[in-house]
Amino acid sequence: MAWNGRHFLSLDDLSRDDMLGLMQRASHFLDAGDRYEPDEPLSGKIIANLFMENSTRTRCSFTVATKRLGGDYVDLLGATSSASKGETLVDTALNLEAMGVAGIVVRCSEENGPQEVAVNVGVPVINAGSGTTSHPTQALLDAVTLTRYFGSDDLSGQHIAIVGDIAHSRVARSNVVGLTKLGAKVTFVGPDELLPNDANCDTSSEFDSVLSDVSGVMMLRVQFERGATTSEDYRERFGLTEERFANFRGAVMHPGPINRGLEIDDSVANIESSPHNLILSQVTSGVATRMAILENLIG
Ligand code: CP
Repeated sequence: MAWNGRHFLSLDDLSRDDMLGLMQRASHFLDAGDRYEPDEPLSGKIIANLFMENSTRTRCSFTVATKRLGGDYVDLLGATSSASKGETLVDTALNLEAMGVAGIVVRCSEENGPQEVAVNVGVPVINAGSGTTSHPTQALLDAVTLTRYFGSDDLSGQHIAIVGDIAHSRVARSNVVGLTKLGAKVTFVGPDELLPNDANCDTSSEFDSVLSDVSGVMMLRVQFERGATTSEDYRERFGLTEERFANFRGAVMHPGPINRGLEIDDSVANIESSPHNLILSQVTSGVATRMAILENLIG
């Protein structure tokens, strides 16, 4: 399905030019920073954050983005909603729509939950992370962060390693789609048991040999809550340790939240460790990217 600009559900729906249009608008918001003078495209509109799974970065940045565009928001969190009484995701969304919200931001465990909501409601739906397959706003903000770091929208010639618990990572799956559209080569790195069988890019279990060839690393959290397990030597084999970091001069990213001392050493994760540490830049890009998406769909 081609992107129709009505919902934002998957990067598979967007062309390279669709991505670049949103990324350039996000870059405009980043450049404007505190000097951004809103024309308030969301004035009088309420955005519903329908989060059936926990979130810090995604939910708060949608909230900040909505407010910066002059809109208001309502939060509906799974644990305190009537989903705990068995109400379905679609019924929940239909009730929010009946209250007059202008758009619904959905995070859920169902792989196609946002798509199901989108075919049942009449307002724009944005996928804020679904199951283990899709986190398109994260991948778009990562693309914004990386293209600004490299100084080019064209990532041809760049090679990005996505490292860790790929099997449970919607960030990895959306990023391989987005980064490939922009021309980058992507390699998934991790222990065999945390690599997917259906990867649509190169895979490796040898971090050091891949690290010597890449211009950026995206370290991923081991998702213990989804059943991942690690061996005793996980940090030594797959962690971005101080020793590895000392010899690496590319972009360092992590979508958060971080297991400090496991997939990335404490000192490496700290922002002052290096100008190549983009971890908090990703968070800043997240607000601007979500502003661009909200403005495009709802503004
Ligand atoms: N990166 C990300 O999705 O973080 P949250 O789960 O805190 O939203």
